[in-house]
Amino acid sequence: MNIIFDGKESHEAIIERSNKATSRIVCEEKSLIIKGDNFLAMSSMMPDYKDKIDLVYIDPPFNTDQIFLVSDDRVSTISRSRNGKVAYSDVMTKDEYLKFMYERFVLIRELLSNKGSLYVHIDTKMGHYFKVMLDEIFGDDCFKNDITRIKSNPKNFDRKAYGNQKDMILFYTKTNSGIWNDIRLKCTNEEIAKRFSKVDSDGRRYTTIPLHAPGESSVSSPTGQPWRGMNPPQGRHWRTDPTEFDRLDSLNMIEWSSTGNPRIKKYADEHQGKKIQDIWSFKDPQYPVYPTEKNSDMLEQIILQSSEKGSYVMDCFAGSGSMLLAAQKHNRRFVGIDKSEMSIEIMRSRIENTDYSFIDLSSK
Ligand SMILES: C[S@@+](CC[C@H](N)C(=O)[O-])C[C@H]1O[C@@H](n2cnc3c(N)ncnc32)[C@H](O)[C@@H]1O
Repeated sequence: MNIIFDGKESHEAIIERSNKATSRIVCEEKSLIIKGDNFLAMSSMMPDYKDKIDLVYIDPPFNTDQIFLVSDDRVSTISRSRNGKVAYSDVMTKDEYLKFMYERFVLIRELLSNKGSLYVHIDTKMGHYFKVMLDEIFGDDCFKNDITRIKSNPKNFDRKAYGNQKDMILFYTKTNSGIWNDIRLKCTNEEIAKRFSKVDSDGRRYTTIPLHAPGESSVSSPTGQPWRGMNPPQGRHWRTDPTEFDRLDSLNMIEWSSTGNPRIKKYADEHQGKKIQDIWSFKDPQYPVYPTEKNSDMLEQIILQSSEKGSYVMDCFAGSGSMLLAAQKHNRRFVGIDKSEMSIEIMRSRIENTDYSFIDLSSK
């Protein structure tokens, strides 16, 4: 299934156009800030950075038909009124916008390494077009998640529709071997007390789980064989080869009820934390330094999950540079691109003490 919009070009034609860039950004193995249009910037990076970027997060303009301004009197106050300095403009027809994003997605994929991931932050008006576009460019087998980001408290709109509290982050990998660090969230004390409600004679909190799980295994599989004369209940199979139960039992890791029902013990102090789910709650700063500045804890979570120390992390709609700061904090190299004078000024002032190359393509 392919998306159709005016002026759509093939991937080959987009890459060929990108190959015609006359500027070239040489890889010096350090972080980069580039001022200029991101199609040109990524084209100029292509000879040296193709297949080198491990993580791309973007938060592009959302096609809102607005001009985003920062008022002069209070730098941190974001104003959409006419009396302020332009941060960036978000005014395009829908077809122009889809073409603009499509060709950038094609270049991003070229720059991503084979273990690379893309996170696209977008609202629900445009996000579904992006899903179809990205399935086409990356392949739907490389679609990983449509993350719901709760961005605000409940709202009281006058509009005859439900309040809008969320936007979305589409997560893709370039291949099926994307970096995945399986980072976990720490349980709160209340969650620990609720999940691990039993306490053993050493004062350790624990809970128990059954030895079996849903689904029957094949007759020949060890997980369908009897263990100590017991079969798994109908419609279920042993969680593991029953010889493992012997080992657990010898370590006193199986609790037997008075009626002879065995359950596996799980200790709170061995718990690795909660798996991160696809609904995130991260509110953006109340006093942003730049319009639509994103939550830094959210960006750090993405970096820790999908990149490694030393990885190149790119944000080619970098705005205030929050993604670059998060990358720097976790010892990743960053590539930040933006065409807005104000964005570049703000991000450079925030990344003062880092050794990076600055490249100005704005006159090209
Ligand atoms: C929504 S803001 C990004 C905000 C950012 N995530 C943050 O946390 O501050 C989008 C940014 O994309 C930039 N932008 C829009 N079109 C661009 C283009 N063609 N090339 C480079 N930057 C562009 C705008 O100048 C703006 O700073």
